[in-house]
Amino acid sequence: KPNGLKEVYKNNFLIGVAINANQINEKNEVQNALIKTEFNSITPENIMKSLLIHPKKDTFNFELSDKLVGLAEKNNMHIQGHTLVWHSQLSPFFKEIKDSTEMVNELKNHINTIVGRYKGKIDAWDVVNEALNDDGTLRKTAFLDALGEDYLSLAFDLTKKVDPDAELYYNDYSMTIPAKRAGAIKMIKRIQELGTKIDGIGMQGHWDLNTPSIEEIEKSIVEYAELGIKVAITELDVSVIPMPWDFSGADVNVKFESGDPTMNPYPEKLPDSIQVKLAERYEAIFKLFLKHEDKISRVTFWGVNDGDSWKNDWPINGRTNYPLLFDRNNEKKKAYYSVFNLK
Ligand code: XIL
Repeated sequence: KPNGLKEVYKNNFLIGVAINANQINEKNEVQNALIKTEFNSITPENIMKSLLIHPKKDTFNFELSDKLVGLAEKNNMHIQGHTLVWHSQLSPFFKEIKDSTEMVNELKNHINTIVGRYKGKIDAWDVVNEALNDDGTLRKTAFLDALGEDYLSLAFDLTKKVDPDAELYYNDYSMTIPAKRAGAIKMIKRIQELGTKIDGIGMQGHWDLNTPSIEEIEKSIVEYAELGIKVAITELDVSVIPMPWDFSGADVNVKFESGDPTMNPYPEKLPDSIQVKLAERYEAIFKLFLKHEDKISRVTFWGVNDGDSWKNDWPINGRTNYPLLFDRNNEKKKAYYSVFNLK
């Protein structure tokens, strides 16, 4: 029997995980060991976002990112850099730039410094993150305002120039929504028509027990692959508690009173029946991934265990969620075994 998930799927795709400072710390022995056994790709969950790595024009913080890269290299793991150009967790100085020349210069400095430092070490980059609205139009950001839509190809070109061997990805969420999918395809075709290198697309897998459907996920994988690029499932977590947009008819912005059962249905322990549902959902998802293994480069979980997951606090603070394969004590859940035993 193989030792961990990375061995189970070694001939299919990489099995990745997002980590934060807590998992880099060598004192976190249990999770350190688990990461080595189960995963062969690492994404920094937060450490390389501009706000953390490049908070001011002339200030770069490389302490944690150096450690993360060191840990991955020591264990022969693939590294997915995340992320170079994103409107969120964005350093304030970028938001203030209005002038196009200044924006080009600061993007160059940002990309040259970070990609240059890890050239040959970081295997792939999420060059641009979340540039699209859910209706498929381009999101209004400081980058779009200053440079127009071709800031996208500029970001890819700048990255390629510094590290020609790195794989370059576009990454976004809700990539299964038809309008957004159409927008993404149009955007990538435009980038390709400009002669810009783009190697892959990351579909963030922030999903839940019922949505998106397997059919929608499949259609998306197939259509993205038809662009001649790789598909990665990034940021996979399957929420077992309802998101505001799941409450039928509810306003997404409505504030739910604490104590509302719809807000935190399983605060202490996930009932067995839901554990089983989660395991079945993961099984169906991985069956689909295996069916399309020729198109899929990597599947990355967004966190090691349920306690680490951002889904406990997002989009409503203080809820308890159980979206991953390991529980809060780093024990394997039913969902782990359904993925492990699938092959
Ligand atoms: C999230 C992290 O998981 C949180 O810890 C942080 O507070 C906010 O960002 N899309 C992305 C990720 O591309 O970088 C986000 O990560 C989740 C949504």
